[in-house]
Amino acid sequence: TPRVFSGIQPSGNLHLGNYLGAIKRFVDMQGQGIETVYCMVDLHAITVWQDPADLTRSTRELCAGFIASGIDPEQSILINQSQVPEHAQLAWVFNCVARMGWMQRMTQFKDKAGKNAQNASLGLLAYPSLMAADILIYHATHVPVGEDQKQHLELTRDIAAKFNHDYGVDFFPLTEPVIEGAATRVMSLRDGARKMSKSDPSDMSRINMTDDADTIAKKIRKAKTDPEPLPSEAAGLEDRPEARNLVSIYAALTDSDADTVLAEMGGRQFSEFKPMLAEIAVEKLAPISAEMARLMADPAEIDRILTRGAQRAREITAPILRRTYDIVGMVGPA
Ligand code: TYM
Repeated sequence: TPRVFSGIQPSGNLHLGNYLGAIKRFVDMQGQGIETVYCMVDLHAITVWQDPADLTRSTRELCAGFIASGIDPEQSILINQSQVPEHAQLAWVFNCVARMGWMQRMTQFKDKAGKNAQNASLGLLAYPSLMAADILIYHATHVPVGEDQKQHLELTRDIAAKFNHDYGVDFFPLTEPVIEGAATRVMSLRDGARKMSKSDPSDMSRINMTDDADTIAKKIRKAKTDPEPLPSEAAGLEDRPEARNLVSIYAALTDSDADTVLAEMGGRQFSEFKPMLAEIAVEKLAPISAEMARLMADPAEIDRILTRGAQRAREITAPILRRTYDIVGMVGPA
């Protein structure tokens, strides 16, 4: 049976890109006989400095965001990474399988480490190895993510293949990335060449899941655009990154695609399209942020959900870790 795994960093500012590129897709994959495991990756978050109180809050807020968006903690396994120790334990084995050069080539490492890579944490370099462990400790077959995670998922396959080859086994599956939908790469509202990101210093560049209706409308009204009206088909969006971005967001929010949206909207000015986009964004996001706020009022309940999730997860991860250790030759309990 297929098993889906994906993760999101609890590093604050959960935004529309995370929702459309990831969380909404997670909800779509839930049920239908597929086993789904969704994870708050707190161990990944601390590869760059996180204030401890902020990390706690962001982890609970992300959990609330998952549930408010439609992840059902009964149907899916919802976990916080550090509460399932097998992730970190398998990551150590993978640190010994993966090569340093593979890690140094990762674009996310290069972006986050910046000019002074010697000063980046060792964890930041090893980040993709932990990510491979997240996925492979469940023998997950499918991983829904946004476009920016593609390189990490290729590396996950490389690590699985090298482990299987080195130890002469056919143990870890080669995972399929699932990068689908109208908004696999949501761009900044201020600059169509940069992706929407948690860490962009400009709050106007992104729509946060916790923004209120007025803020969402204002950010869309002020979003950068060009002076042309909308084209009547998606091909006309080439070389118009800002226009393409807004159309993609509209398409993803309405479970449609750019061609269908433009068949209806083609010829309209942004002064007309932007209020329509704002309306649909508020309609979809406002109930989620209201439900997040409600859930955040009871952090103990969130913690109980995560504790229960970890118990269920470990029924899967503990035997896979033990079999891995056996393959490697580690002496186990008598
Ligand atoms: P993170 O926390 O940066 O992002 C979480 C998810 O949101 C997607 N995403 C976007 N999608 C579309 N447009 C955007 N602007 C945008 N920004 C973010 C990401 O592609 C991702 O799907 N390394 C991962 C977390 C992780 C993980 C894993 C994912 C750890 N272990 C195992 C999958 C499987 C990350 O930093 O995501």
